[in-house]
Amino acid sequence: MSSPLSAVSSVKPSEISTPLRSYSTLDKSFLTRIQGFLTEKEASVLPSVCRGWKTQLHGSKPQLQEPLPKFVNLSDPAVLKTYLDEGSRTKRGGQSAMEIVGRVYEARHRAVAETTKYGLVFPMNPEVMAHVMKQVKGKTVLEVGGASGEHSILMAFAGAKQVFVNDLESEEMEMFEKLRRKIPSQIGQKLVSMPGDCLKLVEKNPELAKKMDVILGRNLLHFFNKQQQEEFFKLIKQLLAPGGQAIFVVNSVYSHRDREAFEKNSNSVCFSTINVSLNEGQKPISTLYVSVSPCKEPVDTDELLTFKAFHLYTRRKVGQKGDKWEVDNNAFQAIDAVHRPKIQEGVKKVKEVMRNIYAGSIRVVLNTAKLYCKDTLKELFESQGFTVQSTFVEGGDGHVLSDSQDLFEEGRLVGIIVTL
Ligand SMILES: C[S@@+](CC[C@H](N)C(=O)[O-])C[C@H]1O[C@@H](n2cnc3c(N)ncnc32)[C@H](O)[C@@H]1O
Repeated sequence: MSSPLSAVSSVKPSEISTPLRSYSTLDKSFLTRIQGFLTEKEASVLPSVCRGWKTQLHGSKPQLQEPLPKFVNLSDPAVLKTYLDEGSRTKRGGQSAMEIVGRVYEARHRAVAETTKYGLVFPMNPEVMAHVMKQVKGKTVLEVGGASGEHSILMAFAGAKQVFVNDLESEEMEMFEKLRRKIPSQIGQKLVSMPGDCLKLVEKNPELAKKMDVILGRNLLHFFNKQQQEEFFKLIKQLLAPGGQAIFVVNSVYSHRDREAFEKNSNSVCFSTINVSLNEGQKPISTLYVSVSPCKEPVDTDELLTFKAFHLYTRRKVGQKGDKWEVDNNAFQAIDAVHRPKIQEGVKKVKEVMRNIYAGSIRVVLNTAKLYCKDTLKELFESQGFTVQSTFVEGGDGHVLSDSQDLFEEGRLVGIIVTL
């Protein structure tokens, strides 16, 4: 008997009947309906067959009303000026906006407040910012999880009517307030502080419902467990004005440089990761071992992105030289046995280098993370009823990668632009 999957995969999109086409997203409900008829192996490749159909039916890249620019050097004052509102194109306005850009433009990451839970503040994506700054004139904007709010401030400089800035961490909101006091007052007065949990924004401020023409949420969504994620999508739907656009950036599979692990598990979103590096001082100089494996969902919030870090070897500096390298055998035994031989191999390879490092460590970082690729992110938003306009991948310096760049070599974050 021929397999149901071969029957399915040989169907051309043009042959798909109207009722099936009306499943136009060919999404989870469709998968659930036919999965019961398939073997485990067939079920695992089915989503990619469907993705093939989707691509053919809808085109792989839905066009933005206005596409993202290819490369924007917002750190060039003359370029930045073209994105500022006319009223801000004064010498003082330009300088002040430039200072804000300078804090995040291709900037190295900084830790969020004093916590480790929320990790890092990331470099700006200049192409997305340019896209947003062009369209916010006279509009109402919200940034959720905006940390110290540089992106929000720039949207105010670009002519937004009002910009709501939200973050959970009071230290971040204080930093935002400090920045606000430094910028010209006519810009500062458009910015509204909304401290606290973004999930409570509408509950606390019902007047915000359907008011937001643009919502920006960078590096926040992947912290949420299943229930919080549902609340988050409900919130975005409550807040978006008709025709409004929302832009999100999240952790990606590309940043782990392990194409094979992710291609084998192309539908997984939750992964356990282990990363072993040789560090000079605090700075990683070589990666000895990386492993990524899918883990069972739903993952609890307490497990998500709570890095566990420890040292296998440590060397302290004494005068011009270092003490002996010390081994922590207990730490080694605490690592899952499947990883140990490969880690030992990695350590062997850097033994020579270690001789010349007088203060450093071999550090192990364990993590449980939600990591998206363009397809899984798109599927997530479509399953929630959003229309996806575009997906994009950011490199380590924040810039959007072009189609010719290797995402698994250079990608860091994945982003999406949606409407309702
Ligand atoms: C990884 S940082 C990203 C900061 C910034 N958006 C960026 O991309 O550089 C995540 C931010 O989200 C904030 N955050 C986490 N949970 C939040 C929540 N429920 N409501 C509002 N902000 C939240 C954290 O305080 C932190 O500043």
